[in-house]
Amino acid sequence: MSDPTRTALRRPSPTTIDVDGEPVTAYPGESLATALLAAGRRATGATASGAARAPYCNMGVCFECVVTVDDRPFQRSCLVRVQPGLSVRTGAPR
Ligand code: FES
Repeated sequence: MSDPTRTALRRPSPTTIDVDGEPVTAYPGESLATALLAAGRRATGATASGAARAPYCNMGVCFECVVTVDDRPFQRSCLVRVQPGLSVRTGAPR
C-alpha cells in the first residue's frame, strides 16, 4: 500500500537566485528564508552593534529575517517565495 503523504509531495525543478552577487540553488515556491538557510547563509543582517540576525519565527512575526529583494528593502524572507532570477541582498543595517 502506497503512503499518500510521500507521493503527494513533489518538488519543482531547482532554479538559481542571486544572493549578494553569488548564485544560489533554490526551489521555486519555497520560502526565501529556507533557501538561504539551506545554502548555509544563516545571517540575514546585523544590528547597529554588529550582532548577527537570522530567521527566528519563520512565520512573519519577528522581522529577524529581513533582506532586500529585487531592490525592495525590508522584506521578510520567510514570507517571500523563491522565483527564478530573484535578487537578494543581505546584511542591511537595522
Ligand atoms: S523569521 Fe520571523 S519574520 Fe521572518
